[in-house]
Amino acid sequence: MTERQPWWKGAVVYQIYPRSFCDSNGDGVGDLGGIARHLDHLEWLGVDALWLSPIYPSPMVDLGYDVADFCDVDPVFGDLADFDLLLEEAHRRGIKVLMDWVANHTSDQHPWFLDSRSSRSSRRRNWYFWRDGKPDGSPPNNWSSAFGGGAWTWDDRSGQWYLHLFFPEQPDLDWSNLEVRDAMQRVLRFWLDRGVDGFRADVVNLIGKPPGLPDVAPELAGRSLIDLWVDIWDRTDTYRYLQEVRRTVGSYPGDRVVVGEIHTRDMGRLVDFYERGGLPLVFNFALQSQDWVPADWRRVLEQAEAVFRSPGTWPTLVLSNHDIRRIRTRFEGSEARARVAAVILLTLRGTAFIYQGDELGMVDGVGEAYAADPTGRLGCRAPVPWDMRPLRGWGAQPWLPWAPEADHCNVAARRAQPSSILHLYRELLHLRRSSHPLKHGSWRILETPSAILGYERRAGAETLVVYANFGDEDATVGGPHNGAPLLVSSSGTNPSTWDGTLAATSAVVLAV
Ligand code: NOJ
Repeated sequence: MTERQPWWKGAVVYQIYPRSFCDSNGDGVGDLGGIARHLDHLEWLGVDALWLSPIYPSPMVDLGYDVADFCDVDPVFGDLADFDLLLEEAHRRGIKVLMDWVANHTSDQHPWFLDSRSSRSSRRRNWYFWRDGKPDGSPPNNWSSAFGGGAWTWDDRSGQWYLHLFFPEQPDLDWSNLEVRDAMQRVLRFWLDRGVDGFRADVVNLIGKPPGLPDVAPELAGRSLIDLWVDIWDRTDTYRYLQEVRRTVGSYPGDRVVVGEIHTRDMGRLVDFYERGGLPLVFNFALQSQDWVPADWRRVLEQAEAVFRSPGTWPTLVLSNHDIRRIRTRFEGSEARARVAAVILLTLRGTAFIYQGDELGMVDGVGEAYAADPTGRLGCRAPVPWDMRPLRGWGAQPWLPWAPEADHCNVAARRAQPSSILHLYRELLHLRRSSHPLKHGSWRILETPSAILGYERRAGAETLVVYANFGDEDATVGGPHNGAPLLVSSSGTNPSTWDGTLAATSAVVLAV
């Protein structure tokens, strides 16, 4: 008998960036009604779960990652009744729903912060980090914010500085304060009681701050949070706080899950978040920064396999999200490469994440409107085009212009064409769902010519082999290749035999 596995092991989570998914009420901003309208499509595609980027009331300085109320829905997206309906409809189709939970900070318009800011004697003053400056009038320490500039903002009225590791409109919560942790527990319970299946936890590695908030060495003062994390924020406290979160989430039935967003250049450090923090899942972003070089992918995959062999860990597979350039854009606009990347993403060991629109082969939006974001992350947030009509299935012109190619790179056109990348994603998702080796099997690298990445997935007597040719020329593999391909990245039909030759920039999945 095979051991019962939680639903999220080997599952595929589809990330929805609600503003850009679909607008149902004619204001040009995507909303919950727009998501509900397309649940049949997502069921057809075969995803196991949705992760919704923040839908909470927000001044939208960081497009929702500045939360003004953790227990409500911003009117631009709908209301709680719309959310309940969406959840019910998703569950009816067997699709789970994960909320984005922004733990590290709130909006500066959140009532907690308004209260905290109102005076030095406010009841919630110590929910955030308020400090006096240095004697020379400079900020309390030399930390930088992730979005540029210093990490402290001066508040004239109360005459102190407050800490923000992101925009000044995103003050950091002080998690060492039990009241803050209790308040966040209530937030988690609010959504768990409504029936959500878990959370994607925003930058949770930053919630434990070093006591005294000391300066970093002068040469590190302008460095990014990612560089500094190991030195500054790798805190026992963080793991303790996360254990509390895990206990709450784990006390609900149904294998509810938390996936932590942790940026680090040292993949090995992610293990602590599973083993010490108790998180079921942690994003591993290493693959999304790889160039189109098979040896690099091989190195990262072998490293991940070594890291996530540790008991209590389980790998995640991530190639893109709402913060970075899209897969196709990163690989010089090549759809063939995006197809190969899809095959790899969805045949590896782990829980896979697809960012909306990658399954259409979308490229990033370009032009003036996209340059408006000081953090340069709007390109991948171009609206999803649903059909060929002028408004492409939206209620009005969307808040951002269409990305290039929207006339054929849209859902209706891709669905109508059996050889499209959308059908490739669907095939992969259905193959993964029905394949024990792909969902739960072991992973082992195969010896291949240098242009090819090859690996094996095995469970019991069943073995699947994946070969991906990164090169611009046909290439032949010598390893196991008897048996018919289950899937070929470059065509809509799978040949009945295979002679061991891979076309340029293509991938194949074989049962051997
Ligand atoms: C990570 C999110 O993915 C990003 O979009 C956001 O700006 C920061 N966390 C701050 O919340």
